[in-house]
Amino acid sequence: MTAHAPQTIFLKDYAEPHHWVETAHLTFKLSPRATLVVSKIAFKPNANNLGDLILNGEQLRLVSVQINGADVPYETTDTHLTIKQSDLPQEPFTFEATVEISPETNTALEGLYMSSGMYCTQCEAEGFRKITYYPDRPDVMGVFTVRVESDLPVMLSNGNPQASGDGWAEWHDPWPKPAYLFALVAGDLIAHSDHFTTIEGNHVDLNIYVRKGDEDKCAFGMGALIDSMIWDERVYGRAYDLDIFNIVAVDDFNMGAMENKGLNIFNSSCVLASPETSTDATFERVEGIIAHEYFHNWTGNRITCRDWFQLCLKEGLTVYRDQMFSGDMRSHAVKRIEEVLQLRARQFREDNGPLAHNVRPESFVEINNFYTATVYEKGAEIIGMLRRLIGDEAYYKGCNLYFDRHDGQAVTIEEWIKAFEDVTGRDLTHFKQWYSQAGTPRLSVTEDWADTTLTLTFTQTTPATPGQDVKKPQVLPIMVGLIAPNGDEVVPSTVLEMTETTQSFTFEDLTERPIASILRDFSAPVILQREMTAKTRAFLLAHDTDPFNTWEMGRMLAKDTLVAMIIDGTPPARDYLDALKSMLSDDSKDPAFRALCLALPSQDDIAQTLTDAGVTPDPMAIYEQREELRHTLATEFKDILPGLYAANDAGAFKPDAQGSGKRSLRMSVLALLTLNDGGKAAQTLFETSDNMTEQAGALTALLSAGTGQEELASFYAQWFHDRLVMDKWFMMQVASAAPLDAARIASMLTEHADFDMKNPNRFRAVFGALHGNHGGFHAPDGAAYKLLADWLIKLDPLNPQTTARMCGAFETWKRYDADRQGMIKDQLNRILATPNLSGDTTEMVTRILG
Ligand code: PHE
Ligand code: ZN
Repeated sequence: MTAHAPQTIFLKDYAEPHHWVETAHLTFKLSPRATLVVSKIAFKPNANNLGDLILNGEQLRLVSVQINGADVPYETTDTHLTIKQSDLPQEPFTFEATVEISPETNTALEGLYMSSGMYCTQCEAEGFRKITYYPDRPDVMGVFTVRVESDLPVMLSNGNPQASGDGWAEWHDPWPKPAYLFALVAGDLIAHSDHFTTIEGNHVDLNIYVRKGDEDKCAFGMGALIDSMIWDERVYGRAYDLDIFNIVAVDDFNMGAMENKGLNIFNSSCVLASPETSTDATFERVEGIIAHEYFHNWTGNRITCRDWFQLCLKEGLTVYRDQMFSGDMRSHAVKRIEEVLQLRARQFREDNGPLAHNVRPESFVEINNFYTATVYEKGAEIIGMLRRLIGDEAYYKGCNLYFDRHDGQAVTIEEWIKAFEDVTGRDLTHFKQWYSQAGTPRLSVTEDWADTTLTLTFTQTTPATPGQDVKKPQVLPIMVGLIAPNGDEVVPSTVLEMTETTQSFTFEDLTERPIASILRDFSAPVILQREMTAKTRAFLLAHDTDPFNTWEMGRMLAKDTLVAMIIDGTPPARDYLDALKSMLSDDSKDPAFRALCLALPSQDDIAQTLTDAGVTPDPMAIYEQREELRHTLATEFKDILPGLYAANDAGAFKPDAQGSGKRSLRMSVLALLTLNDGGKAAQTLFETSDNMTEQAGALTALLSAGTGQEELASFYAQWFHDRLVMDKWFMMQVASAAPLDAARIASMLTEHADFDMKNPNRFRAVFGALHGNHGGFHAPDGAAYKLLADWLIKLDPLNPQTTARMCGAFETWKRYDADRQGMIKDQLNRILATPNLSGDTTEMVTRILG
């Protein structure tokens, strides 16, 4: 055995494999520390690229290897098993191997592992190589037959059930698939079942498998699954293609969920939901993720990625699809604002720092480190822009061509774009640059008014990102509308297509100078830099017909107000307070929308805004001034808060858009009300509410106002048995701690009997919240930096993937003052100096240090 140092892999080096897989027969004899995996794989030499048989394999104990039933010379390393071309038949052949693995000790949660007594797998991206020797790359697609042997009552794999008996079950998946979509589950599980008849008339059994005690938390997810199946048939013409669709909930999972063919595996936090234990936000997330994984059946599974550089091919498109679905299920306006909030908080942040990378990266060390906001969210924005540029009809035509042309294939972004070139006759070469140029474009605009013509002149520049100094102009769809001074819309939304660095667009025959509403619906993922008076913003806030820009104007007013408060102590702007107050009091406006308008920009968002303006952010000042503004709002809106609170009681809990919108406004109002009434309303709601949205909303309002310790204890007493609610209990305390308390509270919680670092949800509850508490994370003593580094060092040997992801907390370090930079750098270097640090974490920390 020889060890291999982690290597950088390049897109330009792609080569087809030496062998294709036709079929794979796998038998699993399950046992916690000694599971035997017997494989029988039919290989076919690839005439385009003949060579040795190269199989991936890691942490496997090899028992035997044969080719066509006979012994054969082979070589193994830590990562591969190789058989020389000269020792192989020139014709198709059968490879057989037996390996032994230990699921119980697998804390990395990649490959086959155990979670609360059940066996489960996670293979994307490169986990299958920890199960058996195999060409573990997405362009190798085979037909799998799986036999599971164990004494557990439920044994599942991909595809359709084929046969079963006492202690065994066989599954066959007729659809060729790459190894990353393989899945196996065995456990003492209960099914929540339903069924669906496809538009093609096929009957499909639907099951959500959960641990005992969770069966009453499946109904909502099942409804979301059925809605998703209907939606994909109606909107994209895509029907499901097996006799059965299974979802399994597992407690220990690194990510949200996984689209394994016919057997989706979910982090239990992303599928289980009940009114008493889940907030509206959880219901919405469950609905979106169920849809996302289901939609992967076509965008990801039937058509998959040629290599991992093409990850955005399936993720960007599938995120775009789930966003459209959620918009249809709820409100497009509200959904778009939520998407942009997410995009700015995660993707713009990434694009502005040392981790910036192309939507289609050109190299990586560890692919797990590229499941990023850029690949997912910016990848989805690219699809949205494409659709805006070519129109709805061409978009769906192009999708159909893509599905027809590439069904059953592993393809690239080139092939995706080609489908749209073919249906539109357009050359999309320039547009495709969105995949190969990192960084967020800054778009500035000037306005000229002469006679009856308004001229908008746009200029775009993209700042340099690591490894990419020179940037070219991008293709930008800029949606614009014009509003007359009396509030009438004189030019409805039109899409301007910008392709140059500087470009002008004119609007003629206008009787009076209009006010331009620019970048409606956030039509391109850019930072719009536009000089505007508070008066103009307030005008658009009141009159724009585009809900995104209406909200955006309120947001800009809030940001300007906060920035002025922070920089020179200017009191909160009157225009902002008045505009917000009249917006809140306008009952013709959707409560969910009003709640979004009331929400203040996050501390992290303010820090980035200051950085963009050339000011070094002071996290304590940001915290204090934001708190100050909260108090101002509470005082200014004193007379309307109780009325809003009473009027937005949604009554009996229903997790739909209407009910959740009202609750969301009501909880935002309650947070301010709590600053006025000493917590009376929040305490009452906490004691009387029957749903988690209000219970957690009340508790958060109290904690954020610096009280609520009694309620926190009674919350624990009520919910200590429910692990998902306990994640909230951990999270809320850290999230709402004052800056100087956050690290101490987080540290104390790690000593709580219910803290379990091996469970990613629990680890994230504490440390995700610590990082999310901007003031607390950046407290002047650096205690939070040190605490997080301590725990990342502890977690790395157990779970490198989750450790590496959480290093992203430090990605903004260059924004801050020299003291903080020094303290963060020390912690990053300390992590890097840890003996045997994983490749995942090494890559992340190295990139962050830059
Ligand atoms: N492919 C999954 C999704 O986006 C995400 C995932 C990646 C899950 C890697 C597990 C591991 O739906
Ligand atoms: Zn996905």
